[in-house]
Amino acid sequence: MTERAEQIGAKSEQPIRQARMLIDGQWTEAASGAVLAVQNPANKQTIAEIPRGDAEDIARAVRAAAAAFPAWSRVAPRDRGRLLARIAEALEARMEEIARTIALETGNALRTQARPEARGAADIFRYFGGLGGELKGETIPIGEQVLSYTRREPLGVVGAIIPWNAPVLLGALKIAPALCAGNTLVLKAAEDAPLGVLMMAEICQEFLPPGVLNVVTGLGEEAGAALARHPTISKLSFTGSTEVGKLIMRSAAERIVPVSLELGGKSPSIVFPDANEDWVVDGIMAAMRFTRQSQSCTAGSRMFLHASIFDSFLEKLAVKAAALKIGDPLDEANDVGTLINEKQFRRVCGYVKDGLERKDARLVVGGLPPTEGPLSEGYFTLPTVFADTSNDWRLAREEIFGPVLVAIPWTDAAEAIRMANDSTYGLAGYVWTHDIGVGLRTAHAIESGWVQVNQALGQVPGHSYGGFKQSGIGREFSLEGMLDSFTQRKNVTVNLNVPPPSRTV
Ligand code: NAI
Ligand code: MG
Repeated sequence: MTERAEQIGAKSEQPIRQARMLIDGQWTEAASGAVLAVQNPANKQTIAEIPRGDAEDIARAVRAAAAAFPAWSRVAPRDRGRLLARIAEALEARMEEIARTIALETGNALRTQARPEARGAADIFRYFGGLGGELKGETIPIGEQVLSYTRREPLGVVGAIIPWNAPVLLGALKIAPALCAGNTLVLKAAEDAPLGVLMMAEICQEFLPPGVLNVVTGLGEEAGAALARHPTISKLSFTGSTEVGKLIMRSAAERIVPVSLELGGKSPSIVFPDANEDWVVDGIMAAMRFTRQSQSCTAGSRMFLHASIFDSFLEKLAVKAAALKIGDPLDEANDVGTLINEKQFRRVCGYVKDGLERKDARLVVGGLPPTEGPLSEGYFTLPTVFADTSNDWRLAREEIFGPVLVAIPWTDAAEAIRMANDSTYGLAGYVWTHDIGVGLRTAHAIESGWVQVNQALGQVPGHSYGGFKQSGIGREFSLEGMLDSFTQRKNVTVNLNVPPPSRTV
């Protein structure tokens, strides 16, 4: 693993790193010996090879996790928490290395994205590290002759699958709560961004007994599907597309296994006429996650802008969006990096082409990426805004997962809320106004799991985060999320009125 670490930040002539996956405390290759290439999306060069794990590797990892479970579940919760807190510290000590790895493999800009992500992962471990004592139950007042109480017990072996858009943070969000609650884990990393996750696993493994955490690399259809189907898994936790989320839920239904799903979004931003100001323009860009190329499930990608400020607000937005610096993710000067891969690049360009061809839509800023010059060497895209009158076309309905924002005018607030809620998704939402009454009434009317008023920040530990509608089931990031998603309740009822034992002497 140290060979791998030395090559972080590698420029083109560096040798290709051979990464391994973590099964039962050992760094191993796939049983088949097959590998997958990991690409730097900023220059399309192969930076590493990872094991192409399949059903056989998943079976090995699940066996290791099942063997580790009895002892791990009996470690006192506070002691499990203490280990997580030590992992947090160790992650902090190697934060820069992790951040550079994230930037290299995801294309997310180091300064604006990768570094905050690495710091966020350490924060997640520290937060859950303090929660061991909260795995407590209740007593139920049935009467003086009965003691009835509940215990929060772990589920067993958790199978978790994560995507590539914030891989280390999302991995931490599975590992820390699952392990704090006494479960063991098999985590399937995303094939496009496994290196930061493997580095985090390497740090975790310094503190954990073998088999408690296993990280398998491989394709979704092979390793991911095998994990979802494995009969020993007693809980599935998935973050990714709604399409794959449905497959995971179907697999879980076969064996009545609980699922947590954190899926896609098409989140609304509603701008009231009193909010035609620069700080709101900045907020809209933050909500849209332009500095992560909008590869974020919480992206505020539908902007409902009051008609009276429509043109002047868009003028300001066009200037600010065009001023974002796009380029090499590892360069501190850049605000914006690249999309993850060619598939996503083609997809996003397809949406932009649709927008350009549509008669009703007007391009406000951005457009198709350049075909020459340094930006054409990677999967770089331009922050793009289309103005349109309709909430019904493809660009306003589908999760694009790229920097394409649609602006739609409104005059009646009830109509804006109706359009905002006219979506199969319900993950996030944003409201912009100086009138706090209007802001809160609107926040309450939006059908989403998380609504922010006058800000567009990221999630913080302790905040129960998750979706309404097809954006998911269950909550992450919080104590409640851990209790609901990673424990099961047992009730024990004891008769206190048993007659004294009869003496036979
Ligand atoms: P995906 O949902 O296919 O991939 C996420 C994870 O699921 C990866 O680890 C992948 O290997 C795994 N996976 C894929 N197919 C699987 C299967 N049949 N069984 C088990 N695991 C499987 O996402 P993808 O293809 O990378 O991106 C496609 C679209 O998904 C994006 O354009 C975006 O709209 C959405 N997406 C949403 C995310 C979110 O956080 N809401 C994250 C990533 C993608
Ligand atoms: Mg997919």
